[in-house]
Amino acid sequence: MSDPNSKPDLEDSINVTEAHGRITRELAASSREKKITDNGRGPISLWIIAAGGAAVLIAGGILGDAGSLFGGTMFSYSSMFRANYVRSAAPGAGDTGPPTKPALVAYSARGAKLYSAKCNGCHGADAKGDGANYPPLAGSKYVLGETERFAMIVLNGIHGPTSSGRDYGGTMPAQGPGMSAADLAGVMTYVRNNFGNSAGDVVTVAMAADAMKTSAARANAGQAVTSEEINAEHLKNLPGDPLDPTTLVNTATLEPAPAAP
Ligand code: HEC
Repeated sequence: MSDPNSKPDLEDSINVTEAHGRITRELAASSREKKITDNGRGPISLWIIAAGGAAVLIAGGILGDAGSLFGGTMFSYSSMFRANYVRSAAPGAGDTGPPTKPALVAYSARGAKLYSAKCNGCHGADAKGDGANYPPLAGSKYVLGETERFAMIVLNGIHGPTSSGRDYGGTMPAQGPGMSAADLAGVMTYVRNNFGNSAGDVVTVAMAADAMKTSAARANAGQAVTSEEINAEHLKNLPGDPLDPTTLVNTATLEPAPAAP
């Protein structure tokens, strides 16, 4: 030992390197033990998180249920809507394309409406006529025969002898005004396939449109046809491709529906 005033030589009492090493090891150990993280806080146990979630769920269930006990106002949206309110479907929801039906069915449905609105009053609900002033359409040669001839009668009316040769003494008024091609096609198809008539085919919208042109081009357009005229000039079927009566058509337009995807 030398000067008593001199500071003790650290080297003498403490092995700094060894001491640091020990401290570092202890800290590391205690850090592992306590899971001390950088910010000094231990991580929350997953069990605590799970338990908290469960508590929220259970409490929510109880409170939500309690809502119905308190008159349904708590946690209940029903007070915000009118009773029996039904939300309309979102645009396009459940949209499976336009409604379709087999052609004969769809055309006949359209025709049935036209018939009761325009023909029923004279020719009768059973299309048997009245035996006095109005001829039957059931079994009529003009109805079941060539479609152009039939179309000319519907569009322009008829005067004089009918298909049976009998003259009912009146004049059927023109039914064309206000009719669309689909209407004409529908009513012709309907009459040809109902009341015991069974032509079994469809007068298409295209055929009816053609009939309207032919009708407008008649020499005596605007006047009722006569048997003489129609048998001389219109004894033919309307041009156009026949339509398989089972073809699916759009019930509104009567046009063939695109094939299902
Ligand atoms: C206001 C009454 C009346 C209405 C409405 C009427 N008809 Fe007539 N229809 C007659 C009369 C009357 C005759 C016969 C005319 C004659 O003998 O001169 C006739 C004749 C016919 C004939 C000829 C039948 C045959 O065998 O010769 C057809 C077909 C016909 N009507 C179809 C129709 C169709 C289809 C409708 C509806 C779109 C219709 N009629 C609406 C009064 C009417």
